[in-house]
Amino acid sequence: MFKNDQSAYGFRTMAIHAGKCASSDTGALALPIYATTSFGYGDFDSGERRFAGVERGFLYSRFSNPTVQVFEQKMALLEGGETALAASSGMAAICAALFGLLSAGDELIFVGTLYGGTLGVMQTLLPRMGVNVLGVKDVGELGNAITAKTKLVYVETPSNPTLEIIDLGAVAALAREHAVISIADNTFATPYLTRPIDLGIDIVVHSATKYIGGHGDATGGVVIGSKQHIELIRTAGVKQFGGCMSPQDAFLFVRGLKTLPLRMEAVCDSALAIAQALHRHPLVEQVFYPGLAAHAGHDIAARQMKKFGGILAFTLRGGKANARRFLNQLMVITQAVSVGDVDSLACHPASTTHSAVPAEVRLQQGVTDQLIRLSVGIEDLSDLLTDIYAALAALTLE
Ligand SMILES: Cc1ncc(COP(=O)(O)O)c(C=O)c1O
Repeated sequence: MFKNDQSAYGFRTMAIHAGKCASSDTGALALPIYATTSFGYGDFDSGERRFAGVERGFLYSRFSNPTVQVFEQKMALLEGGETALAASSGMAAICAALFGLLSAGDELIFVGTLYGGTLGVMQTLLPRMGVNVLGVKDVGELGNAITAKTKLVYVETPSNPTLEIIDLGAVAALAREHAVISIADNTFATPYLTRPIDLGIDIVVHSATKYIGGHGDATGGVVIGSKQHIELIRTAGVKQFGGCMSPQDAFLFVRGLKTLPLRMEAVCDSALAIAQALHRHPLVEQVFYPGLAAHAGHDIAARQMKKFGGILAFTLRGGKANARRFLNQLMVITQAVSVGDVDSLACHPASTTHSAVPAEVRLQQGVTDQLIRLSVGIEDLSDLLTDIYAALAALTLE
């Protein structure tokens, strides 16, 4: 029988088999979808014991569901964490973690740049609930910023959309020293490239919508960490706020994870080649890709990532007008705001993902009007390069 033990097998084997149901009535190889809201508990006493948490067993799918539980176990094993909680989206997972752990009067510090949605929660909702939020530029500023009230340190690496790299080991060491909980959004790297918990981070969050699903057909999120943390997060995030994952989506995520290593290898190789091509092009002002030696976080990325990821960003000469022209010329690459799909997707973050972020904060975060984000898919690299060169050839400099 499969051991469900990360030390016994390689990542590709774990991606296929980890979390497998130990027992199945039918011998079905594909994960059964338990499309049920409720689970009969037999008799009065059993119901009482299950609600009191002294008897194992499912009760209601908002609390837990067998299909969703397999996804949770698989993610915990792949990330090297004790346990996991699945949620209805990446934002539901992030909010579950934040609202499950923070109380009024606490302080949260985030380091570097963050996805616009996360930034929105930190700048609007958390302060309204009495949590003080502070952003610091880099890890060098973090040590001095931590106070007795600091409860959480939050990072995203590589960050969306500017691909900033944060030294996870350094963040984890500072957090431990000050008895602060550390959280890393590992959406862009995935556990195939980086395992933050191995580097000392306490909690990992993901938008499973991206590489974990990989096909752009399911929205979900997941939080991985210790049993103690995840219990608090489960109570707030899915039992109380109700942001649970559906069993149908959990099935798609479990299926998606099986090809994660293969997809990541393909997108990392193509993204590096595209980043190098853009870096050499005269109409490209700057390329943000941690795989380029010129990237400020290259050395740290080389240490903490297996490869450099499938997402890059770049600025074009000629401002927003050329960004618009470039995007409108693309034929193979689709204009859309997600990332991590098998299809290549490109967007203009300033007018889309970060449009709700106040202009000065957006600019501080490096989201300028000429910035384009590209999530590289698994199409033929030659077709992607042809598409990009043709779009660049259509640009003019006024
Ligand atoms: C890094 C990162 N974290 C979290 C999210 C939110 O995920 P979701 O859209 O699944 O809620 C996103 C979405 O783009 C993201 O890029």
